Formats: sequence, structure tokens, C-alpha cells
Amino acid sequence: MKVLVIGSGAREHALALALSRDPAVEEVLAAPGNPGIAEVATCVDVEGGGLDPEAVASLAAERGVDLVVVGPEAPLVAGVTDAVTARGIPCFGPTARAARLEGSKAFAKGVMEAAGVPTAASRVCTRVDQVMDAFDEFGAPFVVKDDGLAAGKGVVVTEERTRALAHAVQCLERHKTPGEDEARVVIEEFLDGPEISVFCLTDGETVVPLAPAQDFKRLEDGGRGPNTGGMGAYSPLDWAPADLVDEVVTTIAQPTVDEMRRRGIPFAGVLYVGLALTSRGLRVVEFNARFGDPETQVVLARLKSGLGRVLHAAALGELARAEPLEWSDDHAVTVVVAARGYPEAPRKGDPITIGEVGEAEILHAGTHEAHDGLVTSGGRVLSVVATGPRLEDARQRAYAAVAAVDIPGSQHRTDIGLAAAQHRVALPGKDDA
Ligand code: AMP
Ligand code: GLY
Repeated sequence: MKVLVIGSGAREHALALALSRDPAVEEVLAAPGNPGIAEVATCVDVEGGGLDPEAVASLAAERGVDLVVVGPEAPLVAGVTDAVTARGIPCFGPTARAARLEGSKAFAKGVMEAAGVPTAASRVCTRVDQVMDAFDEFGAPFVVKDDGLAAGKGVVVTEERTRALAHAVQCLERHKTPGEDEARVVIEEFLDGPEISVFCLTDGETVVPLAPAQDFKRLEDGGRGPNTGGMGAYSPLDWAPADLVDEVVTTIAQPTVDEMRRRGIPFAGVLYVGLALTSRGLRVVEFNARFGDPETQVVLARLKSGLGRVLHAAALGELARAEPLEWSDDHAVTVVVAARGYPEAPRKGDPITIGEVGEAEILHAGTHEAHDGLVTSGGRVLSVVATGPRLEDARQRAYAAVAAVDIPGSQHRTDIGLAAAQHRVALPGKDDA
């Protein structure tokens, strides 16, 4: 099988690496890819950088690929899957209409409500007075979400009402959601408890969950600093209830996939379930229509089954007949090395020096091969991935490799997976009320 991966981040590097390890995959192409991906795949330029559906479909047809795997949300929302499948080529990733599950938080809330999926209570507001009423109703901490794609930066969680209100006003003024006539902002009740990610592969009917992971969204140790796309992750979650993934499938993923199909908008691809383990049970924080970054890096590091085969089955509507997935017992940790100035104003063009990294994998995200060597070209520069028999071993290997990376002014967290390794992740006490 010949597979084309769309995207250029560390998630796509992880996908390309896992695909290249699958005996069923003969060749991996990536568009546009990056210098790290070029070590495991053939990188090809594509007009529009992967965002132009017809350009991707033409590339896939010209190269005679058997499967296209779309990494980021933007090409999905732009309709890459629609264009590729229109040419008769299997494509892993939802159609533009189905990707609204990620593209519009208000749409996602509507689907969850219809499917009876547990999520934070919320109000969709188009006016400031509605925002104030919602603040009164839910109380502090206030959760304010931009309705639309904001690359993980559209959410503010704060104890300060004035800050929450300022963000809501900004969301209402900034832009209008495509296809809607009024700008909207979503106000939510605050969810207590640890947050985790479960990726569910689906062909629109059958759901196959992957191993759960935990992501660290804030820039600094201890969960301080601004929200980012994710500064690190680990998998599995030894502290989580044993039946967690089954419960996610039964109470969240399957009902959502069924509801989408019922609406005539079948969702095939990855349903990324971001959820909180609250005192009142599981609650969905967000859906995404793609693999998470950096969680994918740790999830795929532990996948023993062939990735190409299962993604192909999902794209063809044949997941019910796919072999069960096999996982390594190892733990995996990834630490993101970000550029100076990330997330506000990441500096580009800084030299990247990578020394002896042992068995760790250095996955590339914001890198560029300049005439005099590798330089930074984006906020999250590298994703350093290591595995080990215990979480602590994986952490040590990952951090030893991070120490071998030199980028002037770079930033990384030192506590990825630390609380779990020290058995300090607390589940909130069950609230029977
Ligand atoms: P989202 O883009 O919806 O995933 O939100 C980004 C981050 O904000 C999440 O990963 C959470 O850490 C936080 N967050 C979002 N919604 C809530 C909520 N209802 N309660 C507490 N934290 C939240
Ligand atoms: N790691 C968070 C995301 O991919 O949205």
C-alpha cells in the first residue's frame, strides 16, 4: 500500500513513522512534510500547502496512492477528504461537513445533546447580556470559548469575571463563524478533575478506540502560563479506571457516531474525545476531528499493529472486520521543545543542534532545512519521544534527549508525566448528590 500523509507537524511525523513500520505499507509520501518526515517518507510539495482540496486530490491521483491520511483540521474543514474520495481514492479523515464537530463548538454541543453524551452545561451567546446571564448561572471559574477554529487558543478559563467578559466581547467582535450569520461565543460550566484524550477510529459506524493519553496544555510547569497547542503527553494512564476506554466508547464515541450518521453526515476518521474525569463522571470537554498533537506521538509509539491497515479499513468502511489492535506494555512520554517566544511570537531562524539522543525519537514540527543547517520555523519545534518499561524510565530517556537538543532560548516543561510517575494524579471524590 502507498500512503500519502497531509501535514507538516510532529503529529504527521509520528503518523509517517508508524506507517513506515507497517509491513503492509510499501511507500509513505508526505505533503508538504518537514525535514524530519523526510527521513522516513518522500516529501512532496503541494500547491496550497495541503489546504487546497483539488491540489491534494490531483497529487494523490498522480502518485497513484492507495490511501490519503489527513493530519490537521484545516485541510479537513477545507474539504480535502471530499475532493480525494470524489476521485475514488480512500481518504482517512472526515468530510468538511462532518469536521464541523470540531469546527463549530455550538454544532458539537447540539450533537452531544441529541446523542445524550455527557458534557459541560453550556450557553451559546450572540450578545453580551446573554454572556452576563450565563456567568451568573454558572459562577466562577468562568469558561469562555470562541465558536470556531482558534487552534486551541480561543478558550479562556479564569476566576476573574472582567477577564472572562473581555474575552467574550473579543470573540463576539472578532469574526463570524463561516456559514452562520452571527458571531457566537460559548459559555460553559467549569469541569473539575483530570483531563485526558481518547482517540477513536471510526468508519462512520464501527468505533475502535486507541490507548488513552494525557496532554499538558499550559506552557509552564505546574500548569501555569498561557494555553498552548500542547507541551507534552504520556500514555498509558495507570491511574485511570480500568474500564475508562470502554465507557468512553459506549457513552460518548458510539452515540456521537450514530447521531452523525442519523443526521446524514456520517463521521469517519478520528473522533478525538477530550474529556474530564469529574466528580460527577465523564464529561466531554471538546471533540476534535483529527489526531491530537502531541498525544499521537505517545499513542503511536506504543501501537504494535500496523497503522496503515487499520486506517485503510476505516477509510473503506470496513472497521468491523479489522483485527483487534495490539499495544506494547511500555510507557511513552513526549516532551515538546518550543521556540523562544512561543506561543505569542515564536522566533524563527534559530539554529537547532541535536546531539546524542539514545533511543529517543526526535519528531520534527517547526523545523526548516536552511543552507547552513536546521533552523526553527514555528512555535513547537520538536517533539522528543521515548518509551520505557516504567513511566519514570520513559521520562528519564525523553529528558536526557531533550538535554541533548540545543536551540537558543527554547522552552520545555520539566514535569511531563511527573505527577503520574509519582502516583500523585488525584481523581476527584465521587459526588453522589
Ligand atoms: P478546548 O479548546 O475546548 O479544548 O479548551 C481548551 C482547554 O481549556 C481545555 O483543554 C481545558 O483545559 C480548558 N477547558 C475547556 N473547557 C473547560 C471546562 N468546561 N472546564 C474546565 N476547563 C475547561
Ligand atoms: N493536544 C491538543 C490538540 O491536539 O488539540
